[in-house]
Amino acid sequence: MSDNHITIFEVGPRDGLQNEKEMIQTEVKIELIERLVRAGVKKIEATSFVNPKWIPQLSDSKEVATKIRREEGVVYSALVPNVRGLERAREAGIQEIAIFMSSSESHNKNNINKSIDETFPVLREVAEVAHAKGMRVRGYVSTAFGCPFEGEVPLASVVKVTEQLLNMGVYEVSIGDTIGVGNPREVKQSFSSLISLFGSDKLAGHFHDTKGMGLANVYAALEAGIRTFDSSIAGLGGCPYAPGASGNISTEDLVNMLHQMGLHTGIELEKLAAAGKFMERVLGRKLQSKVLAAMKSAGGIKNEHT
Ligand code: HMG
Ligand code: MG
Repeated sequence: MSDNHITIFEVGPRDGLQNEKEMIQTEVKIELIERLVRAGVKKIEATSFVNPKWIPQLSDSKEVATKIRREEGVVYSALVPNVRGLERAREAGIQEIAIFMSSSESHNKNNINKSIDETFPVLREVAEVAHAKGMRVRGYVSTAFGCPFEGEVPLASVVKVTEQLLNMGVYEVSIGDTIGVGNPREVKQSFSSLISLFGSDKLAGHFHDTKGMGLANVYAALEAGIRTFDSSIAGLGGCPYAPGASGNISTEDLVNMLHQMGLHTGIELEKLAAAGKFMERVLGRKLQSKVLAAMKSAGGIKNEHT
């Protein structure tokens, strides 16, 4: 892959929809995923296999995962917290999973009901079983730029969790600004340090846009050498166990910025915007994407219904 190619990991169907108040119909989720694929998205976090009592919005994960029409060359990943979740994901035909934990104790406890040190053996077992079954495993480190309960998070904690996940054999760790409090200067510094320790090909950026710094943080991470970013269609999202967390950076805004900078994503912006508009219609409200709003007011979106 050339240095000019940026990989987009679309997380809207999981990170976005896990935070919607109303349960979205399974058919809508499937249509959203298929639209994203038609726009050229190659990596999608389609759902999660967490405890459905904790995240009822994604309790239809089995139906979503089994009913999506799989396209060759597209990764349909799912978030998994433990071996129970891994088994459910495998039964639904999932071949890539993401394991996740936080770099701050209180968010980890709130989100997955364990301390950081108690979480390592749980995730190590998930990774071992998944690898033994030939699955690929991605990792997330949440609250890497700040915690809703503890405030500042030392880089040493992010390094510790990242290292543990990489030792479990995850192919990449996505560094999460879960509540969107990072600023471009510290993002560039932190990613530069993480890259010097682990290499840029092992890292990705996952920015929430709570205070409007998401794209600036992408630019800072790009400058440090990161080439993979997570984003949500139309900026859907949040984390239900992180008070104050709002949506991820919008995929339309991210793709537009990267293309304007002469970088490649393989994604067609018109079709992406059509997927964003589809979600606005379904949810009955305007979503966060600025590029989507601009494209609508500039005369509509072509092929909106395809
Ligand atoms: P727990 O209650 O401590 O689990 O939850 P447990 O192991 O004690 O089990 C309790 C019951 O849950 C048992 O059933 C288990 O079988 C069942 P019972 O015996 O009582 O009938 N159970 C499950 N059922 C189905 N699927 C499972 C599963 N696991 C247990 N996988 C647990 C611990 C981790 C499961 C729970 O805390 C949980 O599901 N948490 C997930 C929370 C979540 O999804 N948060 C949002 C995603 S993270 C995020 O958004 C951040 C990210 O985007 C990056 C960023 O922005 O930074 C990734
Ligand atoms: Mg997130």
